[in-house]
Amino acid sequence: MGFSTDCIHAGQEPEPQTGAVSVPIFQTSTYVQPELGRHKGFEYARTKNPTRDALEANLAALERGKRAHCFASGMSATDTVMRLLKSGDHVIAGENMYGGSYRLFSKVVEKFGVEFTYVDTSSVDAVRKAIRPSTRFLFLETPTNPMMTISDIAACSDVAHKSNVLVVVDNTFCSPYLQQPIELGADIVVHSTTKFLNGHSDSVGGVVISSSDEIADQIGFLQNAVGAIMSPFDSWLVLRGVKTLAVRMKRHEENGQAMASYLANHAKVHAVNYPGLPDHPQHALAKKQMNGFGAMISFELGSYDRAKKFLDRVRLCSLGESLGGVETLISHPESMTHASVPPETRQRLGITPGLVRISVGIEDVEDLMEDLEYAFEGI
Ligand SMILES: Cc1ncc(COP(=O)(O)O)c(C=O)c1O
Repeated sequence: MGFSTDCIHAGQEPEPQTGAVSVPIFQTSTYVQPELGRHKGFEYARTKNPTRDALEANLAALERGKRAHCFASGMSATDTVMRLLKSGDHVIAGENMYGGSYRLFSKVVEKFGVEFTYVDTSSVDAVRKAIRPSTRFLFLETPTNPMMTISDIAACSDVAHKSNVLVVVDNTFCSPYLQQPIELGADIVVHSTTKFLNGHSDSVGGVVISSSDEIADQIGFLQNAVGAIMSPFDSWLVLRGVKTLAVRMKRHEENGQAMASYLANHAKVHAVNYPGLPDHPQHALAKKQMNGFGAMISFELGSYDRAKKFLDRVRLCSLGESLGGVETLISHPESMTHASVPPETRQRLGITPGLVRISVGIEDVEDLMEDLEYAFEGI
């Protein structure tokens, strides 16, 4: 089926007893078994829940993966993937990624004896050079949060697979509408469903999509053994959000492109990071790898003082963490999402005190520009 059809129908057959078109919220912790040793496929809700099952089937279809497993947050999804590793294993990760992923790796996973090397994954050569005999994962975030750097998933996967390294892609910024990493060679995809997949800023969740049954079996085992599951209500919210993913993303994309050119032509903006702009260093790669450029943009205002004045003056755009909602969200990566990244790394990557990130929503873009124009007048 086409992508929009899958958004609405994959995993979402009418409920057999009543024909309800909306998958019910199975708000239960356990299931009565008709006799000892026989059950209907459901024993306990940490292990399996029909609402979560429906969402997992839906997201596996959208990412063209084998199976999906949903978690309580994007971080617990990534954490569960990391639990496939053991002490002595090595991971190559991008030097720029969501600050919380860096915090998980450097402050939690490293404690268990897993080693990390952070490289600029937009250079396939840098990835190749970082591979060691003990390397198990290449962890890519593309585009990166917040610098919007693109890594070549297909080329990195080729290099990684030659050394039996699995490629894990955080596809949160794109959603499967804009990018399907498994089709490009990745082995595992993770998302914060909190963002574009749910799309309405009313649920926190995560998902791991596996490209093979072998990986899915291990993730499924960990989902049950560790237990950081998505609740039935959150599963239902994400299922409802995903039904409109294609139409929302189309509008996000249009607004994102319009906003990026507005910012690029603004006298008070020093630089704009958006893969849809022809002067973005990986514009050609983004064009090839993605089905559009998305709605995430970061831009440089020159100093903390200017960024603060600007952010304090927005009225329609919401100043807050997170992204991917129908409403435009604006933030200051240095002090918010990337506060856990060491200052010298932030400086080197361009996560400066003057950097602002915007997740362009699906409002009338003229209203958003008017709001930003008012904010620019104050700096
Ligand atoms: C790219 C990316 N990955 C993962 C996460 C973590 O997701 P969650 O907040 O749902 O734990 C975020 C959160 O902002 C993110 O931006």
